[in-house]
Amino acid sequence: MGAPARPNDLYSEKTDPMTDQPPVSYAGPQRVVSGVQPSGALHLGNYLGALVKFARLQHQIDTFIFVADMHAVTVWQDPALLAGQTREIAAAYLAAGLDPSKATIFPQSAVTAHAELGWIFQCVARLGWLDRMTQFKEKSGKHKERSSVGLYTYPVLQAADILVYKATQVPVGDDQKQHLELTRDIAAKFNHDFDRPGFFPLPEAMTEGPGARIMSLRDGSAKMSKSDPSDNSRINLTDDADTIAQKIRKARTDPEPLPETLEELKARPEADNLVGVYGALADMTKAQVLAEFGGQGFGAFKPALADLAVAKLGPVSDAMRRYLADPAEIDRILGAGAERARAAAAPTLDEVRKIVGFWR
Ligand code: TYM
Repeated sequence: MGAPARPNDLYSEKTDPMTDQPPVSYAGPQRVVSGVQPSGALHLGNYLGALVKFARLQHQIDTFIFVADMHAVTVWQDPALLAGQTREIAAAYLAAGLDPSKATIFPQSAVTAHAELGWIFQCVARLGWLDRMTQFKEKSGKHKERSSVGLYTYPVLQAADILVYKATQVPVGDDQKQHLELTRDIAAKFNHDFDRPGFFPLPEAMTEGPGARIMSLRDGSAKMSKSDPSDNSRINLTDDADTIAQKIRKARTDPEPLPETLEELKARPEADNLVGVYGALADMTKAQVLAEFGGQGFGAFKPALADLAVAKLGPVSDAMRRYLADPAEIDRILGAGAERARAAAAPTLDEVRKIVGFWR
């Protein structure tokens, strides 16, 4: 049998890129998978874009949440600090409400099936697909040639993280959408090349809600990020009440009062962002926030937002500190989670080995 045709087009919702037919649907159970890198202090964007959703989903669907330490080492990490950073993310998961008796919480590197499937996927994914990844361009900047190869193939490992558990839903912030499209491409191409329709699901990114894209407090056109040199651009989960209030007071805004309509809000990125943060923290839509604060100036809105942020984040950072005071308990949770995750990943790897034709 000749090699199948391999178009380079990214996956479209309506058709399987390999067959131009509607994708054969996946018949397995629903599962949630997601992860966060242990590469710096967590901020409000990570919390609202990811952690809050993890905690909600664990009550609805079988949920696997890992600490992405293998992704973290695509850029230099101090070996003396990495395990501690991994525990910190685990503490943040627990503080955000993840319950180890409901969700499986584990370090990515403890489940070698991610790396094994990642290799197969490197042979499925096309260079042209990776060339389009905007996050690599952002992260490698002017130093593309000096970036690690791992930084380039990073989204392929991400596809393995997700598909090794045959996950159907992936709660992430907006910035991960392109990586999820690539995951769908890889799943569709694997299913097609090995003639196994529906073997891997084509997982959906869950990015709904106002928390999916939290912007910098200093610049409404840049996303809130761990790597922004200005600490005032973000609210860290470990910030105390005074620091949170001060950062919100200093947040860049325009001199106009808050508008009454979403249409007017769109043209004002900084105001739009603060309204979105309020909405995400209070579990309200932006329209509901405007119904309450439209027409009021930032002199009134910022203190209300600061109070809300302190009330919501204070207990999270307190809980994080409590968990971190007992690293042995965190290690116990991560160890038990890793065992469960290995057991869940093993059948997929077994089948993949058979499908690919490896000696067994
Ligand atoms: P990471 O560690 O950069 O970010 C963790 C999560 O936080 C979200 N996020 C945001 N959400 C809203 N507003 C922001 N400003 C903001 N900044 C970050 C991210 O979208 C993410 O959901 N590649 C992933 C880690 C990963 C992963 C996976 C995720 C590895 N394998 C498999 C899902 C499934 C990353 O670097 O996230």
